Amino acid sequence: AVDMSVDLAGRRLPSPMMTASGCAANGRELGRFFDVAELGAFVTKSVMADPRSGRGTPRMAETPSGMLNSIGLQGPGISSFVENDLAWLKRSGARTLVSIAGNTSGEFADVAATLRASDAFDSVVGVEVNISCPNVANRGLVFACDPLASAKVIALVREQLPRDVPVFAKLTPDVTDIVTVAQSCVKAGADGLTMINTLLGMVIDTDLLRPQVAGVTGGLSGPAVRPVAVRAVWQTRAAMLEGRLPFVPIIGVGGVRTGRDALELVAAGASAVQVGTATFNDPSAPVRVGRELAGLLQDKGFARLADVVGIAHERL
Ligand code: DOR
Repeated sequence: AVDMSVDLAGRRLPSPMMTASGCAANGRELGRFFDVAELGAFVTKSVMADPRSGRGTPRMAETPSGMLNSIGLQGPGISSFVENDLAWLKRSGARTLVSIAGNTSGEFADVAATLRASDAFDSVVGVEVNISCPNVANRGLVFACDPLASAKVIALVREQLPRDVPVFAKLTPDVTDIVTVAQSCVKAGADGLTMINTLLGMVIDTDLLRPQVAGVTGGLSGPAVRPVAVRAVWQTRAAMLEGRLPFVPIIGVGGVRTGRDALELVAAGASAVQVGTATFNDPSAPVRVGRELAGLLQDKGFARLADVVGIAHERL
């Protein structure tokens, strides 16, 4: 059998497969369909300091190639999250990558500090810092569009957490040069990068001639953005190979539905792969894609997933 384990910034995970943040809030929904401990890691919906109701409805729209969401970071707040959701994930044997968000850099740090103090913190294999939500009041201030703002958030979060809990920066594809933002985050202490968040988009209802989501714009996900994710992972890996960026693990995410899709991100440079939108049609997609990926590697004669990470860069 193929060795599918990954070393993610010092944490050994049995599988590269993860959920993508946001598509399942807390794990319980998916736990009805498969054992969440089968995942390399379960990634939570971004959790903020306080409970939050998010944007108005409707806040989802479908297109033939992707899905638009305008949720606006709905969530229970960090206290309820650690008491209920993280405690459940720990009991279920899940390795959890906790996605956190904040309105200010200080709020990100507060969320991280509360998380660290929680009883279930030993089940946390990393913190994914969501600096790239497209559905916030002033999009001009999306942290990940600004390398300096990104660095500030990452540095503050890094300070709050023990050294052996890796910090991943979740980046937006809506920038001219994603490598510049990645460089800034890694310099500030990010141990890894998750790319990509959704791409800012918009859908208009042509019967009613008005925007389909109440938030007007939203985040585009699904098959439409997969080539954008592959490009972002490729450019970031290339920067590492060229010595412009230290080697840190990349978690690839964007429109993955099959083992082949996952393999594409791995070949571009991803060490782990998240599955989001595909879970709406197939809740077990993350584990199914993992099986498919293992089968593909086996057929191709690879003994270890790790040998395939970034392999396409050697075949130009
Ligand atoms: O597309 C997204 N929607 N990305 C995020 O980071 C947050 C989410 C939301 O809650 O709006």
